[in-house]
Amino acid sequence: MARLAYVDGRYVAHNAASVHVEDRGFQFSDGVYEVISIVGRRLIDMEGHLDRLERSLKALDMPEPVSRPVLAMIMRELVTRNRVREGIIYLQVTRGVAPRDHKFPAGLKPTLVMTTKHVDFLNQKRLSDGVKVISIPDIRWGRCDIKAVALLPNCMGKTQAASAGAYEAWQVDTDGFVTEGTSSNAWILTRDNVLKTRGLGPDILRGVTRDSLMRIAAEEGVTVVEEAFTVEEARDAREAFVTSATSFLTPVVKIDDRVIGNGAPGSLSCRLQRWYIDYCTGVRGNG
Ligand code: PDD
Repeated sequence: MARLAYVDGRYVAHNAASVHVEDRGFQFSDGVYEVISIVGRRLIDMEGHLDRLERSLKALDMPEPVSRPVLAMIMRELVTRNRVREGIIYLQVTRGVAPRDHKFPAGLKPTLVMTTKHVDFLNQKRLSDGVKVISIPDIRWGRCDIKAVALLPNCMGKTQAASAGAYEAWQVDTDGFVTEGTSSNAWILTRDNVLKTRGLGPDILRGVTRDSLMRIAAEEGVTVVEEAFTVEEARDAREAFVTSATSFLTPVVKIDDRVIGNGAPGSLSCRLQRWYIDYCTGVRGNG
């Protein structure tokens, strides 16, 4: 069976799915999105992703395309029709179609699209071996808390990372503090054994994986300090890792040219990763 996409009320063949050339998402990046992982046919943290979608829409004064239960129903339907066991669902809402004009036009019907992809997440070598990250200046805008589809700086950073043989680029603000990865949140275990990730604010996205991991860490008695760390502190760290819907918890074993710890994923990172994967597979419940 051919893969299907959802476009504005219809399930259509993925390779024929399209939107209008004057869709504001296409012309102005005037839209928001979510990426939700699917493990054993279950959508992980769907409610958290829908909460964030609502926050993003509200921040941009964009109406909801359909009610929340309908959105959830369409997502489940697409996952079922495409028989996705392990993978992702991508959901995008744009302001809609209108003659090109910078001002937000009133009364537009938002465009809603969804696609799915099969990915064998849990067998990826990077989860067990860890990855390299590079550091780059953060050149993004002042509202990184909105999950907007305007991702050009992120794409440039990720491409630079790939050219350097790295998985991710950690973006660094003008004071030398790491904000986050181009598509993930950044974490370290410092020399003094403090597990740190940057606090919430307009300069990072509030990761749904970050939220879940913080909850799991608290349940396990592991303290997380929400505090910015410098790139120097990161290079000196005992352990480091990234979190996202597609990275789960991926250990970092090298930052720029500095090996982290002994060059293998750290023991706290491995424990947190195990707990998080157990949560996703349902071993821990409510994944
Ligand atoms: N990215 N920070 C940024 C800039 C991101 O783009 C993402 C997710 C995250 C982690 O958020 P979450 O844990 O909710 O996935 C942090 C998705 C995976 C993407 O753009 O593909």
